Amino acid sequence: MTNKIDPCTLVLFGASGNLARVKLYPGLFRLDMLGRLPDDMKIVGVGRQLVDLEAWRADIKSMLDTKFKKGYDQKVFERFIARNFYHANPPTDPDAFAKLKTTLSDESVFPQNLAYFLSVRPVDFAPVVESLANVGLTQEDKYWRRVVIEKPFGTDLPSAKELQAAITKHLKESQIYRIDHYLGKSALQNILLQRFTNTVLEPIWNNQYIDHVQITNTEMLGVGDRTQFYDSTGALRDMLQSHILQTLALTAMEQPKDLSPEGVRDAKIKLLEEIRPIPVNALEKHAFRAQYAAGEINGEKVPGYLEELGNQDSVVETYAALKLFIDNPRWKGVPFYIRTAKRLHEADTRISIRFKKAPLQINDQDQNWLIIGIQPRECIKLEVQSKIPGLDIQTRTIQLDAANRWDSDDSVDAYEALLLNLMQGDNSNYLHISEAEAQWRLVDPVVKAWAEDKHPVHQYPAGSRDPEASKVIFEAEDQFWRYSIELGGDK
Ligand SMILES: NC(=O)c1ccc[n+]([C@@H]2O[C@H](COP(=O)([O-])OP(=O)(O)OC[C@H]3O[C@@H](n4cnc5c(N)ncnc54)[C@H](OP(=O)(O)O)[C@@H]3O)[C@@H](O)[C@H]2O)c1
Repeated sequence: MTNKIDPCTLVLFGASGNLARVKLYPGLFRLDMLGRLPDDMKIVGVGRQLVDLEAWRADIKSMLDTKFKKGYDQKVFERFIARNFYHANPPTDPDAFAKLKTTLSDESVFPQNLAYFLSVRPVDFAPVVESLANVGLTQEDKYWRRVVIEKPFGTDLPSAKELQAAITKHLKESQIYRIDHYLGKSALQNILLQRFTNTVLEPIWNNQYIDHVQITNTEMLGVGDRTQFYDSTGALRDMLQSHILQTLALTAMEQPKDLSPEGVRDAKIKLLEEIRPIPVNALEKHAFRAQYAAGEINGEKVPGYLEELGNQDSVVETYAALKLFIDNPRWKGVPFYIRTAKRLHEADTRISIRFKKAPLQINDQDQNWLIIGIQPRECIKLEVQSKIPGLDIQTRTIQLDAANRWDSDDSVDAYEALLLNLMQGDNSNYLHISEAEAQWRLVDPVVKAWAEDKHPVHQYPAGSRDPEASKVIFEAEDQFWRYSIELGGDK
């Protein structure tokens, strides 16, 4: 399904920043290569520095050269570069936004449907919206006006509500596009389709057949040079609160009434609101945190988190795991274990579903797993028990393994998909405020309890598997972390 795109102007705040350079300009260029940008679409980069048009276009070329090392079509490049303009918004200039309005009002150059992408610091989200509104640039009459708010939308529930109150003074919900870039990933959008367009999966997608679900995101990388950011955020807020809870929502939600943006969002919101609050008085059975210590990654010695940070007192987690229950008839009694970690033995994002024991048990391990690989491998694997050919009755586990992505498929970056959705006016892959709030409501008590508990945090050597102590959150003795998508990843 493709939606029509109105002629529009994309105004990109923070145009020389990291996200714009690495994802947004290359993403827009790729969309142009694919013929998905409207002919007269324009892009206005906004930044504090004074940069002339020639220098700005040369800078964009350098962004593309860095990204597309094998080169690109010169004709598409000429077309793309001609779409680009620059507007300086020095913070010392009280008329900066009025001047932006004057620039944009030239209808002979700029289509009047305006999308603003705020790729700026989170503290700047509300002030930029206010400044745009003050000069009438958020007003919708003949033309639409949309605002993309980057992640994070607040740092807890009160700050998310505060940001929401500030921007809804000037914007309707339909104008706000809150980013969780995981939702732009084809592999995530596939969960919904794979579940609901297959007769074999949906009937067993419930507590009658499923023992438990694990949603995992692990990295081999450490925090690198982002120590200050990371130490004020932690794994729970950085990954679980956003990407992993969205993955859970798509995995567990009821069938949407249709695939319209409202249909999909309503089903996700309902699911997120049905997750049982985590009991703070029994936190140790529902939440586990740890930090990586020095260890080895790919045969190389790497330092521990506290050494990198240069502060031995930090209790901020680089490993976070939660046990969640969903209070609805489909999932009653089924634990959902979600976890994220840096510096683990492998980098992998996946959904692992363990089914209940079959009526006939030959070996102890006769339990089926269904694995949905999200990255790096986009795949679906079903593990089934099968007889070992021979004279005896013995079984072994085999994997039915299918790639969700073929070599010949287009590889579309999440931001490309989201930019296209923005221009199409399709906000189903953006967060509704109810989702952002439900996610903060769920994790806030854990964040608070962990911040207040200054006891030393469990340590795991970099490059290891999950810390042994993390098993404390399992509901049943025979549950354990699935550590790999490969056969034998349950041993
Ligand atoms: N980078 C990523 O991969 C990533 C991932 C997820 C979310 N995000 C979110 O995306 C947004 C942009 O991220 P980014 O990594 O591109 O940020 P960045 O490179 O640090 O900064 C973006 C822009 O903000 C302006 N800026 C930076 N420091 C400033 C200051 N002290 N005062 C006023 N303006 C300042 C700069 O624009 P000018 O100097 O041109 O005005 C800069 O180009 C953030 O909200 C971030 O949380 C980024």
